[in-house]
Amino acid sequence: MADGRQAAVAGASDFPSGFLWGAATAAYQIEGAAATDGKGESIWDRYSHTPGRIEDGTTGDVACDSYARWREDVDLLAQLNLTAYRFSIAWPRVLATGRGQVNASGLDYYDRLVDGLLERGITPFVTLYHWDLPQALEDRGGWQSRDTAGAFADYARAVGRRLGDRVRHWITLNEPHIIAYEGYLYGTKAPGLSHAALVAPVTHALLLAHGLAVQALRAEARAAARIGLAVNVTAIESASDREEDVEAARTLDGLWHRWYLDPLYRGTYPADVRALLAMPDDLIRAGDLELIATPTDFLGVNYYTRVRVRAGHGRGPEPEVLPAEGQLTTMGWEVYPEGLTAVARRLHQDYAPGTLYMTESGAAYADTLAEDGAVHDPDRVRYLRRHLAAARDAIAAGVPLAGYFVWSLMDNFEWQRGYTQRFGLAYTDYATQRRILKDSGHYLAEVASANGARLVMED
Ligand code: FCB
Repeated sequence: MADGRQAAVAGASDFPSGFLWGAATAAYQIEGAAATDGKGESIWDRYSHTPGRIEDGTTGDVACDSYARWREDVDLLAQLNLTAYRFSIAWPRVLATGRGQVNASGLDYYDRLVDGLLERGITPFVTLYHWDLPQALEDRGGWQSRDTAGAFADYARAVGRRLGDRVRHWITLNEPHIIAYEGYLYGTKAPGLSHAALVAPVTHALLLAHGLAVQALRAEARAAARIGLAVNVTAIESASDREEDVEAARTLDGLWHRWYLDPLYRGTYPADVRALLAMPDDLIRAGDLELIATPTDFLGVNYYTRVRVRAGHGRGPEPEVLPAEGQLTTMGWEVYPEGLTAVARRLHQDYAPGTLYMTESGAAYADTLAEDGAVHDPDRVRYLRRHLAAARDAIAAGVPLAGYFVWSLMDNFEWQRGYTQRFGLAYTDYATQRRILKDSGHYLAEVASANGARLVMED
């Protein structure tokens, strides 16, 4: 706690009043209860149970057991003085096979969670798709098929109908780029396919699903719905000023960022990336691009790190990405707070989404439970302090940033890395399922209660 306490001194807040202080999670990473109360199988259930796919051989079958322990999680959020919570809904809990009969008890769970949050004055941010596609839909083509977009709209409608009187903030998709690249090009996340030709059709189906869900939610949600999606944005820098390296950085930005943001905000796929990914012309049907560009209310930004790029061959269609240097987290990601400011400013300037939220930002470190019963994580305290300062700098530069969600509320199942990565503000003791606030959690609680005023800049 020492570091967090020293870091907290009084000062005027540079964050607008009403700025949301939050934490984020995702269903498969925390809920467990993989087959409880009528939940169907998801592609992550299938993938994590496939030998060799998960680094430590684990699954999300139990995870943080949040399906049973959600009240403790709400208590934790309250203890953290947070005013917002971003969580995701497991599609196969609501529709076991992805479409058809709605499973009321699956929705009951989220209904109770939403009420529990609202009772504590915590604003729910609901993500509809954080990667756990119903396996039955995958068996019929999954995101390779545009039919899945239609199924997603029906699912969005069912959720909107049930929760839309109380939930105002909706995120349709989490990180379409990671879904397409890791799920279908590199095979490192579910469903674990690797074909370069899949990136374009999968992206298109995802973005259609987004557009249809925006319309479905607008029609169903009774509270004034605020709808957006969350994209992962990396600070991409060229390794030198050489023209070919600058061009390589532009290419990677195209593959990772413009490929998603241009259709969403400009109604067109960038021509250079279409060529690189060999997007077939007949993929886009009349009306598709208008649907994808349906106006939204905010952009969610997940920011973690930077990469440096130079001309040369990297993975698949990508130019060469240099090995990360400097201070690294246990994910191997460089700590680079300046990139958060740069990314936020760029998104505001190029796409003007109106309102931005940092929907994820955080770091994994090798935390341990100390003899004094606390979890001392000075690296994460420093990480948060520097990234919050970077967010403040973006606001000072005119970016309409309205909230900041730390990834994650507690240590959880980190996809193909299993339980090897601890991102939490709270330490999860998996043997007992006890959550223990780390020093960084205590630090954030002080910052949040003062609306960022007690945020100290010096290291
Ligand atoms: C993001 C994911 C989130 C978590 C963090 C570390 O890409 O959205 O679920 O795994 O990375």
